[in-house]
Amino acid sequence: MEKLVIKGPTPLKGEVVINGAKNAAVAILPATLLIDGICTIDNLPNISDVNICCQILEALGAKITRNGKHSITVDSRNITTTKAPLDLTSKFRASYYVIGAMLSRMGEIEVGMPGGCKLGARPIDQHIKGFEALGAVVDTGKGVISAKADELVGNTIYMDVVSVGATINVMLSAVLAKGTTVIDNAAKEPHIVDVANFLNTMGADIRGAGTDMIKINGVEKLSGGATYSVVPDQIEAGTFMLAAVATKGDLLIKNCITKHLESITAKIIEVGGQVEDFGDSIRVYCDQRPKKASIKTLPYPGFPTDLQPQMGVVLSLADGTSTINESIWESRFQYTDELNKMGAKITAQGKSAFFEGVEKLYGAPVYSTDLRAGAALIIAGTAAEGITEVYNLEHIDRGYEDIEERFRSIGADIKRISE
Ligand code: EPU
Repeated sequence: MEKLVIKGPTPLKGEVVINGAKNAAVAILPATLLIDGICTIDNLPNISDVNICCQILEALGAKITRNGKHSITVDSRNITTTKAPLDLTSKFRASYYVIGAMLSRMGEIEVGMPGGCKLGARPIDQHIKGFEALGAVVDTGKGVISAKADELVGNTIYMDVVSVGATINVMLSAVLAKGTTVIDNAAKEPHIVDVANFLNTMGADIRGAGTDMIKINGVEKLSGGATYSVVPDQIEAGTFMLAAVATKGDLLIKNCITKHLESITAKIIEVGGQVEDFGDSIRVYCDQRPKKASIKTLPYPGFPTDLQPQMGVVLSLADGTSTINESIWESRFQYTDELNKMGAKITAQGKSAFFEGVEKLYGAPVYSTDLRAGAALIIAGTAAEGITEVYNLEHIDRGYEDIEERFRSIGADIKRISE
């Protein structure tokens, strides 16, 4: 078993370069299954979710060549099976994108029930509603999802909830369908725009990504032949921004798109942090105890749920009582029990949590309950006095590349130890 041992407190200072977005990468890789050709993807984060994704593509017959740490070439000309390995697909959430892509390209697919972070119920009814609207027959019995279509024909689909996964998945399934598909009440996250840009670069005809209505005119074939670079990770950038505030540090965060960070920037200013926006980099610093704030997580462009735990660390140290209302996931406050072990005073009730700010956190052994909780605990350990041990690192490694090296490079006293 591995753990991270962090000795704090340390104000994080220096420069950090943001990697490609995990949630774009894990959609773009399955999207390569739509291409009857070869393409290269650059700026891929080197994380375990991306590695599993590559293994799934290989199991389906795609050939993958690694061009270094952050780039791969995918040759999807020969798809050899429509059964994706159940053990791999049930390991992570984004395996559901294989359904949309393979339905469109091959007319059938079988995958395991998608896994991923345990954040409460994670239904996929909106994905299925979209596939069925295009003419597919979907069965979800016995822990396996199988979908089949003799022909996919464009349709208009109104999403009952704003869903990142369903928006991307229906978009994938519509790319090679006959006619026009309209996704209404679509999600608008930067990675949705990125997947659409990737597909358009490869020959698709998708318009309106980034708005709540996306129109996909089906094309006969995607031929590839191009190179695409994944968008910088909004959530990774936000994680370091909030780390600067929580540790009263000063970070220059490079290779980000600051437009994607506006909801985070606004809250950082509200709690007393300073922000300098340079367009493709952002400086965040804070030399005072954070002020209290109220946060409600919302789909983009609202405050992202994937930064809620990291913001929770800031608010646990704030002057006064803050509240967070989580509107996306049922159970994203599991990390608050861990922060309370470090001296925080947080009461979580259902989808709300109340943070009675404390002056200091103290090191303790803590358990990462999901990916973003893990990032929050690293920030907390860096801000806290004494030694923090963070366990369950497999969650963190799913989404953050070289996390301890990058925290070390900005001053954290952090090491990974195998027991
Ligand atoms: N929902 C439904 N039916 C559906 C799909 C979603 O009711 O068919 C509900 C969900 O239960 C949730 C809400 O809609 O209440 C939003 O879910 P969404 O589909 O947007 O989430 P997702 O696609 O499963 C992605 C990210 C998550 C991130 C959410 C919200 C990936 C692989 N995962 O999940 O990222 O929290 O969007 O932004 O893109 C993370 O990176 O740590 C992470 C959990």
